[in-house]
Amino acid sequence: SLPVARSVAELRQIVGDWKRQGLRVGMVPTMGALHEGHLTLVREAARRTDRVLASNFVNPTQFAAHEDLGRYPRQQEEDARLLAGAGCDLMFAPTVEEMYPQGFATSIAVSGPALGLEGDARPQMFGGVALVVTKLFNQAQPDVAVFGEKDFQQLMVIRRFVRDLDLPVEIIGSPTERDEHGLALSSRNAYLSEKELATARSLNLILRKAADEAASGRPLPGVEREAYSALLKAGFDRVDYATIRHAEDLTPFRDDIVDAPARILAAAWLGKTRLIDNMAVGA
Ligand code: PAJ
Repeated sequence: SLPVARSVAELRQIVGDWKRQGLRVGMVPTMGALHEGHLTLVREAARRTDRVLASNFVNPTQFAAHEDLGRYPRQQEEDARLLAGAGCDLMFAPTVEEMYPQGFATSIAVSGPALGLEGDARPQMFGGVALVVTKLFNQAQPDVAVFGEKDFQQLMVIRRFVRDLDLPVEIIGSPTERDEHGLALSSRNAYLSEKELATARSLNLILRKAADEAASGRPLPGVEREAYSALLKAGFDRVDYATIRHAEDLTPFRDDIVDAPARILAAAWLGKTRLIDNMAVGA
């Protein structure tokens, strides 16, 4: 069965052995409750490196007090089994005390791609992600780390702080894994009732249609408004955003027309569950 490191000391010993053998190390940070989306990241890391480690840590610093930290699904034994099957060599599953000991007093402030969208809805999130991912990189010192395009803005934020802080790790983005209805796989899908699941499955279709219309030259305000109302009509209770942005930095298009690489991104609520999705516009 899969080796599991619980402390930074154990982690460093195992990864240190790999490095002394000249092996390249890939890392896949996760919060557990693993599904096929996470496993594609592990396989991608395994293709690119000699040894793969996945972290499994529900990071409290990226959740606000009112968010789903307490009910976030936890299933570490099942996760370890899935990771082993996908070619992972080590799971790092630290306690909260190991990551944030008494007296912890440091934070990381992010702006640029962290502003707007998820940053508006969840102001604490990207600072918390930057903090935990920086710690994980310092603890494990991987050569390569793989993240999903499912969390597209998160991927942009990570690329930026890795560059800004000169962290010696190569960041790889991996495409979103979806179910047979196109619903992006997410640990939070487990919260959905049958009825909510049917609505959730319309999200990718509504985004695809809007993306195609934007790609064919239709002005963005109309496309975005229509996507927004289509989401409500499909049964979402609330829409935080449904917007088309420049693909590289997520800034808005000035002239209301897509004339450069673009990405459509949305976040919407079904009851207490918040879903996000995104995809390339055109090509
Ligand atoms: P988590 O939500 O567990 O996601 C871990 C990684 O899996 C992220 O890179 C995410 O983008 C990717 N992922 C999730 N669903 C995916 C899907 N359907 N297809 C492809 N990739 C998918 O994102 C986090 O954890 C945390 O913020 C973390 C980076 C671990 C920091 O705590």
